[in-house]
Amino acid sequence: MYHVRFLKVPYIVPPEAGHRPRRKLGSSHSTAPPSTSKDHVIFQLMVTIVTELGDNYFYGTANVRAILYMIRSDGSESVLGIERSQWTMGMRALPITISVLKSQMKKVVASHIKFKVVINISDFSDKSPLFYDSQQAPVKALFLTVSSLAFSFTPVKVIYEDDHGLYAQRLIPLANMKPLILYEEIGDSMAKHLWDSGVFLCQYLSQSLSNLELFKLQFPHYSSILEIGCGCGTVGIAMSEIYPSATVLLTDLESAEDVCTRNISIHPQKKNLSFITYDWDKSENTSETIAQVERTWDIVIACDCTYNPDSFDIFTDALERVMTNPASRLLLLHKERHGSENMVFDMLREKNGLSLIWKHELDPVPLKARVEVFARK
Ligand SMILES: C[S@@+](CC[C@H](N)C(=O)[O-])C[C@H]1O[C@@H](n2cnc3c(N)ncnc32)[C@H](O)[C@@H]1O
Repeated sequence: MYHVRFLKVPYIVPPEAGHRPRRKLGSSHSTAPPSTSKDHVIFQLMVTIVTELGDNYFYGTANVRAILYMIRSDGSESVLGIERSQWTMGMRALPITISVLKSQMKKVVASHIKFKVVINISDFSDKSPLFYDSQQAPVKALFLTVSSLAFSFTPVKVIYEDDHGLYAQRLIPLANMKPLILYEEIGDSMAKHLWDSGVFLCQYLSQSLSNLELFKLQFPHYSSILEIGCGCGTVGIAMSEIYPSATVLLTDLESAEDVCTRNISIHPQKKNLSFITYDWDKSENTSETIAQVERTWDIVIACDCTYNPDSFDIFTDALERVMTNPASRLLLLHKERHGSENMVFDMLREKNGLSLIWKHELDPVPLKARVEVFARK
């Protein structure tokens, strides 16, 4: 999957900078109108299209649409215009200029309206597919759309509420329920972004809601759910939507706390959803943390946490401490990056006494991935 990411969220070019708008918002031809920035509000932004680890830029051509929305105080939204740009092979960053007639904006700015820019891909040609299915056939590229947070603006700057534009929003389509809205950090650092596995697992779980075999037989109890290594909280938050009455505790290292608590805060109706820092390395946790995390859970989730053989010892030790309930189920998503990762399954069997009771191959996805449920023997 490719992630469309903001390298720079929308910012404003002050009129005195003398920029000339490339073309009017929404027009499909590239001739600039006979107008200067005195007549326009000009937003600049920068995006990239990259794999989750940020190690491969999309190699192909893609029509990139920057859609400027206005958001009314009742939450309803409408499109103010669409700016189309082209991503071409070899690109690493795509600057986008959105220019809107001031006369058009004045009408809406007066009435406390906010704005956001959504970036999506409308058409593409993948010249060098990176991803193959289990039959080694190229898999059609998938793109994860991104949205800026809501902003207002003055003639000289864009104003984001409390985070100075450091975050963007993702909207993950789920089956049988509303899309899941999540924050992630902008920029090309690896941390605090959504991961492919989390997105695929929560989509799979939402599709499987009506699947009795998975949800009723494999998870006979589901009133308490713990996620370890939760990242932005994608899977745990989706689980709290699937099992609204369950208590869901999300855990990860301190570096994930800010983004994950933000994601919890946009689901205020979920009273039983919380985050606490918890390191798989026992020596790093306080007694207070230990008391909250190392107790009995019906379901323990670990999604894409089995990629680093150096962590297998502390990962499986942590599972031992949080799966004290003999009826606990472990829901694991494993993405096959390297053969040495398979060692963790021997450890789950031999050290943790867990056996596989359910398995589903996610296919076709970039890199083979499996959803598995383990239970005590
Ligand atoms: C590939 S990410 C997956 C995140 C999330 N589960 C998802 O699928 O979106 C792996 C996560 O494991 C966490 N992690 C790595 N080592 C850890 C440790 N020692 N203790 C707790 N979490 C850890 C990382 O901080 C990261 O958020």
